Amino acid sequence: MLVEKNVPLQAFNTFGIVARAQALVRIADEPALRAVLADPELAASPKFVLGGGSNIVLTGDLKALVLKVEIPGRRLVQETHKAYIVEAGAGENWHEFVRWTVAQGWPGLENLALIPGTVGAAPVQNIGAYGVELQDVFDSLDAMDLRTGQVFTLNAAQCAFGYRDSVFKHRSAAEGSGAGHLALGLKDRALILRVRLALAKDWKPVLGYADLERKRLETQCDAPSAQQIYDWVCAIRRAKLPDPAVIGNAGSFFKNPTVTPEQCADIIARDPKVVHYLLDDGSVKLAAGWLIDSCGWKGKSVGQAGVYEKQALVLVNRGTGIDGQGATGGEVMTLAKAIQTSVYERFGILLEPEPVVV
Ligand code: EPU
Repeated sequence: MLVEKNVPLQAFNTFGIVARAQALVRIADEPALRAVLADPELAASPKFVLGGGSNIVLTGDLKALVLKVEIPGRRLVQETHKAYIVEAGAGENWHEFVRWTVAQGWPGLENLALIPGTVGAAPVQNIGAYGVELQDVFDSLDAMDLRTGQVFTLNAAQCAFGYRDSVFKHRSAAEGSGAGHLALGLKDRALILRVRLALAKDWKPVLGYADLERKRLETQCDAPSAQQIYDWVCAIRRAKLPDPAVIGNAGSFFKNPTVTPEQCADIIARDPKVVHYLLDDGSVKLAAGWLIDSCGWKGKSVGQAGVYEKQALVLVNRGTGIDGQGATGGEVMTLAKAIQTSVYERFGILLEPEPVVV
């Protein structure tokens, strides 16, 4: 087993923030992880599981042992009369996996095309886009308990999925943060090895989102295939979201907040144009991007950290590519806090960051 020391992490986080890991082990398979857990010193050290690094903000060097997940593999596990059950190793690139399933003729993931990151990270924050969330297509996952080395399987209910949330984002209840269905939160306690998705054979396109409706009208295509939707989603994302390979970012930086109908009515009375969506449970979701935009943040910066010009919900690293000159995690968080304050002062809403701040 190779323990790499003092490893630069700039290439391992999509924000492109400069930081180092004191120690890093690449996990390409289950035996590699077992070897870590069998080593008394490594087993005892705190651990940080790193996937594609697309949803983290590094605010300093990592002292915990970094487990960089590189488990490969994708296969059709089972075909039932209802669905294709497809499995991928946690280290697979999510978008490549989506592309492969669509090309195989197994539809269902097309709305989730071009989301950066790995398959193993997808359940952690229950990735979602254009009306589909991972939980809608989720079958089960296998993970290893980092304390005992035991491999266990979780179904969707056990993952306690929520909006950009799961059991993997919470510490155990005893440690103070609650974890939905499970008394135990699994943050830093488990490493996801494989994920299985159930892609239904009675597939229907999910087209409700305005951007997709626009594409449908433009192309006058009333019954698009999964491949067609995949192409549309890729085009939409390329037009409004920065490519992390070119401009460092971690996707949406804040969650879209949920408010009561009364709170929403209050805001509408002052700002009639506020973008909002009614949810099934009667509450109302507000577009955080609109709130931030209307506070005038588009294009503003703190040091090298900035608000993306085309989508105010995305914070970017304006210094990516210039060795050592990019945004620091501190600049990103200072900018994020300033945005939170101004949105709070104007709308009375405290925006919650989406990425994990380390
Ligand atoms: N808007 C503005 N100004 C802005 C940004 C947005 O007025 O600067 C308005 C838009 O015009 C639109 C509304 O806000 O009316 C919503 O914007 P958009 O459709 O771009 O979606 P979003 O709510 O900002 C969410 C997800 C994205 C996902 C898209 C599409 C969250 C936090 N973000 O963004 O997910 O791709 O919907 O489903 O839920 C991510 O999580 O990293 C991510 C990119």
